[in-house]
Amino acid sequence: MKTYKLLLLPGDGIGPEVMGEVGRVVAWVNSTGLAAIETETDLVGGCAYDAHGEAISEAAMRLALAADAVMLGAVGGPKWDGVAYDQRPEAGLLRLRKDLELFANLRPAICYPALADASSLKRDRVDGLDIMIVRELTGGVYFGKPKEIIELPAGQKRAIDTQVYDTYEIERIATVAFDLARERRRLVHSADKRNVMKTGVLWNEVVSRVHKERYGDVTLHHILADNCAMQLVRAPKQFDVIVTDNLFGDMLSDEAAMLTGSLGMLPSASLGAADATGRRPALYEPVHGSAPDIAGKGIANPIASIASFAMCLRYSFYLGDAADRIDGAIASVLGQGLRTADIAQDGCRTVGTREMGEAIVAALNPA
Ligand code: IPM
Ligand code: MG
Repeated sequence: MKTYKLLLLPGDGIGPEVMGEVGRVVAWVNSTGLAAIETETDLVGGCAYDAHGEAISEAAMRLALAADAVMLGAVGGPKWDGVAYDQRPEAGLLRLRKDLELFANLRPAICYPALADASSLKRDRVDGLDIMIVRELTGGVYFGKPKEIIELPAGQKRAIDTQVYDTYEIERIATVAFDLARERRRLVHSADKRNVMKTGVLWNEVVSRVHKERYGDVTLHHILADNCAMQLVRAPKQFDVIVTDNLFGDMLSDEAAMLTGSLGMLPSASLGAADATGRRPALYEPVHGSAPDIAGKGIANPIASIASFAMCLRYSFYLGDAADRIDGAIASVLGQGLRTADIAQDGCRTVGTREMGEAIVAALNPA
């Protein structure tokens, strides 16, 4: 039996509540004897700023670098609105992504049949939806230099962000997308803005070359990112894998997430390159944020976090069967009519964070 080190960074807002339910599912995995998962917990985001004056401490970074995987809850909230840019809660998350070199962000948007009516689109458009957004996560305008606001004469200022991509960054994210497509419906849409941006021109060229050289068995379509946004609400089921840069991926993944009925449902994985043994740096987190308006009330939806842990089992611990069982337990609990407040529905029972977590673990341990 293998032993894994899992670092838990619950963070701010509803983060600690939903992470508490992940703890239950970790305990379930340990009880099955499939693996021994040892957890440690540290601070990230606003709570880390309150404790140490920075959004993640050096000690927490060391733990993250040494861990087999990191689970993050959420960062940020109005309490830290006035904090300096470099210390804002989001800086902790961005540092983790950058220093762990988590260049590949996988954001599945799956519409559970039980929730198809919760979508803002008509049921027939989203029922059975299963999209994987592959977002480049360590490059582009998020990290490009210069990134600054400079003073100009006459009281004017100039703000600069830099969108920059090198060939290798595009190659490696394209490879991740094509490999994933091979396990799915063998269809990749690559979204860029080559009609306006030089980075889009290079993006397009490199993705085409990687496809031609190594992935002739996968269908590739290039799509302009704005058209992709439109097609996602017009006919989302035409997509299988969408690969795109950091900023477009940020937006398209929120859009895709909402198609499924609730941001509270969607997990994500951020992965680095695997070494020869298959070990790779990895961080798993729900797509939803810290939801300060409902923090501490015990009503947050823990499903995205639990599904993120299932992704951790799949992509870091290679326990795909256990991950399938967790995904199945989530679907079954939804099928039984249990809902948290964000996905409340007539004829269903609305439960709190803890009850939802307990129900999922109960479904994992059939009597
Ligand atoms: C996300 C979030 C982050 C991002 C924020 C919190 C920095 O929106 O993970 O999508 O913009 O990447
Ligand atoms: Mg986002």
